[in-house]
Parts: sequence; C-alpha cells; structure tokens
Amino acid sequence: MIKEKRVEESKTIMTEMIMPNDTNPLGNLMGGNLMRWMDIAAGVCAAKHAEAHVVTASVDHVSFDLPIKLGNVITITAILTRAFNTSMEVYVEVQVAEITGANLRKSNHAYFSFVALNAETMKPIKVHKISPENPSEKAKYEAATRRRELRLILSGRMKPEDANDLKEIFLPS
Ligand SMILES: CC(C)(COP(=O)(O)OP(=O)(O)OC[C@H]1O[C@@H](n2cnc3c(N)ncnc32)[C@H](O)[C@@H]1OP(=O)(O)O)[C@@H](O)C(=O)NCCC(=O)NCCS
Repeated sequence: MIKEKRVEESKTIMTEMIMPNDTNPLGNLMGGNLMRWMDIAAGVCAAKHAEAHVVTASVDHVSFDLPIKLGNVITITAILTRAFNTSMEVYVEVQVAEITGANLRKSNHAYFSFVALNAETMKPIKVHKISPENPSEKAKYEAATRRRELRLILSGRMKPEDANDLKEIFLPS
C-alpha cells in the first residue's frame, strides 16, 4: 500500500575516515571513492524510503570543490527530496573536518536518482510519497520536477517538447 512518509524516516548519515588506500598519489581522497560512498549513502536512503531494492538510475553534476586529505573525516548526509512514480531523487551533501572535529566545512553535494525494483521480476515498482515539512525540504521538493526534466532530457529519456518548465531552454522560440 502506498503511504506518505516523512523525510526524516529515511535520512541516512555515513561517516568515513580517509585512509591511505582511499587516496591518490597527492594524498587526497580519490573522487571515485567519494562518489562510491555517496552512492551507497543515497542508495540506503532511497531503499529505506521505498522499503524495496533500488538501483541508481543517474547522478547529476558532481564537482569536487575542496581537496579532502588523508586523515580527514567526512560525513555524508543523504535525504529524499521527492518521490515520483517508481523513481526517487536523493540529495547528498558531504562535509569534511579534521579528526578532532575542527574546521568543519561543506565539500560538495549532488542529486542521485534511484528506481525501486521488484527483486524477482526486476521491474520498477511504485514508491511511497514523501511529505516535506520544513522550508528547506519544501524548496528541494518543489524544484525537483525541474531537475527531473533536465536529467531526463539530457539522458534522452524525455523529448524537450514534452517538458513543462524547461521547454524554452531546449527549443528555438
Ligand atoms: C533505471 C532503470 C531501472 C529504468 O528502467 P526502465 O525499464 O527504463 O523503466 P522506465 O522507462 O519505466 O522508467 C522507470 C523510472 O525510471 C526513471 N528513469 C529512467 N531513466 C532515468 C534516468 N537516467 N535518470 C533518472 N530517472 C530515470 C523514469 O523517469 C521512471 O521514473 P517514474 O516511474 O518515477 O516516472 C533501468 O534503466 C536500469 O535497470 N538501469 C540500470 C541500473 C543500474 O544497474 N544501476 C547501477 C549502474 S552500475
């Protein structure tokens, strides 16, 4: 049965200390390792919301704004911003600090999309709705339809003429 769930119910927080095996030859965290952890945190969040298995459908723009050093501690927070029909958008934010907790700052963020699947048929299944509560949750929820249009157009899954909000960007006036 489809129900309405709160953002807090699936919020997922993951902490990692950067070890030698996670770094590049300059002693900074490798971008691919960070993306793997972000994908895991976001996937756990989406699966908790859907109460089902999920697969990553896409990852929006990711930029690496700060070098993350060997011995730093990162905290990855994943929250569900919007549930559509069988897909969900998850916002992931990464913060970095010294091992002592000092110098805490935001490193980067990204939006991930997941699709819930029936584990036997491997077909997409409907997901629970989300009810945003505070202004930040509501703002991300409202803007999610525009981000969805953009990623579906860029991945060739939606024709620009079928878009609502972003049609003008892609079609000549
Ligand atoms: C994602 C996947 C399940 C979509 O399956 P599909 O049969 O094409 O399903 P549909 O066309 O019916 O789309 C299902 C949902 O996926 C969404 N979707 C499809 N491609 C998407 C993309 N690139 N970005 C975001 N959402 C996407 C659709 O919008 C739809 O969402 P909705 O039901 O909420 O409207 C399928 O492409 C797949 O299994 N991909 C591989 C996933 C994977 O292995 N990930 C790990 C990679 S290493």
